[in-house]
Amino acid sequence: MRTPVLAGNWKMYMTPEEGRQMVQALIPLVADCQEREIVLCPPYTSLAALAEALKGTNIASGAQNMHPAKEGAYTGEVAPGMLKALNCKYVILGHSERRQYFGETDAMVAEKVKAALAANLIPIVCVGETLAQREQGITEPVVDIQVRLGLAGLSPEELAGIIIAYEPVWAIGTGKTASSADAQKVCRFIRSVLSSWHGDAAKKVRILYGGSVKPDNIRELMEQPDIDGALVGGASLKADSFARIVRFEE
Ligand code: G3P
Repeated sequence: MRTPVLAGNWKMYMTPEEGRQMVQALIPLVADCQEREIVLCPPYTSLAALAEALKGTNIASGAQNMHPAKEGAYTGEVAPGMLKALNCKYVILGHSERRQYFGETDAMVAEKVKAALAANLIPIVCVGETLAQREQGITEPVVDIQVRLGLAGLSPEELAGIIIAYEPVWAIGTGKTASSADAQKVCRFIRSVLSSWHGDAAKKVRILYGGSVKPDNIRELMEQPDIDGALVGGASLKADSFARIVRFEE
């Protein structure tokens, strides 16, 4: 019912030329995967090169962040319309690294989500608890607040079109993955929060898992009923490993 989304977050890696080469290797490896959405989110500086290289393929591009204003005196920032002009279809918002290193709050995430939707970009909104929060047993309340505040003010129609990525902070780049059962439990909880809020629209929201996703754990994650895909960091930098993730192949 929900089309799976396999998204790569390249973070601050890859020059435009390296990105172009990776994509050229990836395209034939996933060309027959028509029944899923494949997304690559490179640094801003590689978006133009990817737009060119991905033309006519089944892979779309996304950004890793954006400013919510249409334009203005915001040195170093990039506006939603600028991403659209580079053929971006998606934008990652509220990644834990942005929250942790750049002070992004749920209120800022909410503002960006609305701006992204207004610009016809599909937001991939990241939520997730830290290790300390998990050890205190407050994963659900933490994620509940991030979801409610980060998606505040969305209509059921708007909600249905967004993507949420559950990324436990302790599993990012550490090689530690949440067990598929744990990931499913939190993803189901997120869907129940959305459903108590907007009923049936919650059934349409794609919820991804992120945090040390690799070819050897993707299949089990995708077997979980509330996990609709993955947001992949390190393993999305190489064509071969990302292709195996897209294909759910170990
Ligand atoms: O956004 C993806 C991410 O934070 C997970 O990174 O390297 O653990 O797959 P990684």
